[in-house]
Amino acid sequence: MRSAGAGLRLPHLAAVAATTPSVAWFEIHPENFLANPHARELLMTIAQRYPISVHTVGVSIGSVDGIDRGHLARVRELIDDLDPVLVSGHLAWSTHQGAYLNDLLPLPYDDETLELVSTHVHQVQDALRRPYLVENPSSYVGFGTSTMTEVEFLGELARRTGCGLLCDVSNVFLSGHNMGYDPYRYIDAFPAGAVRELHLGGFVAEDDDATPDGTQILIDTHGTVIAEPVWKLYAHTLRRFGAAPTLIEWDNDIPEPDTLFSEVRKANAVAAEALTDTDSHVVAG
Ligand SMILES: [Fe+2]
Repeated sequence: MRSAGAGLRLPHLAAVAATTPSVAWFEIHPENFLANPHARELLMTIAQRYPISVHTVGVSIGSVDGIDRGHLARVRELIDDLDPVLVSGHLAWSTHQGAYLNDLLPLPYDDETLELVSTHVHQVQDALRRPYLVENPSSYVGFGTSTMTEVEFLGELARRTGCGLLCDVSNVFLSGHNMGYDPYRYIDAFPAGAVRELHLGGFVAEDDDATPDGTQILIDTHGTVIAEPVWKLYAHTLRRFGAAPTLIEWDNDIPEPDTLFSEVRKANAVAAEALTDTDSHVVAG
């Protein structure tokens, strides 16, 4: 798990099962496999050959309505079959009054939210019987009522629950751009001791009607290659955190497998160079 891995999406399942490409590990969204027996069968074949990481997109740890226990039970059943090396999800909410919203929505960073999210992370870890990693979100707006920074919130969440953290370096970069903070200072303040995994994903710049001065907003599409400034931030992140399992996420406009895997090779090359002269420690893997 020291090498980079790739997001495994449904269009690539059959090819990966048939050709066994040279990739160290894959990450899946369990929600893709809960009602798709054929895909699940292919996944089980792939899981015999590769370490698998499970990244949930439907476990809404920020929802005031509480965790959907039925969904969590279905995810746990898949996890019990897969025995993944890592299990993670987002610091966000995506359900309200039983309805699933097709977005990962932001939270205010205050004591009340910390209490709520901590309770839910405990419930998830108890149900899954393994540590859960919580990922920093991609942000477009913030809450004026927040009383702590995102980094402080994540650090306290990890301290209270024992959860690990998944640092999405692209999210740090684009949120820094959109919210007006320095992504390097964010990484420098991030609780490095809790980091178990990194993410890299593509984003696009779009004109923003809310900023008439012509400033563009960065949208987290996971639909293109990793931007050059993010590779530089990734190198800085590795020098600070040490080696960590790194995933290339690509969820929209999914390319041929080789295009995805070339980004994986690039992540390995950037990591090798960043860590060459660094007295780094291995975070996990
Ligand atoms: Fe991510």
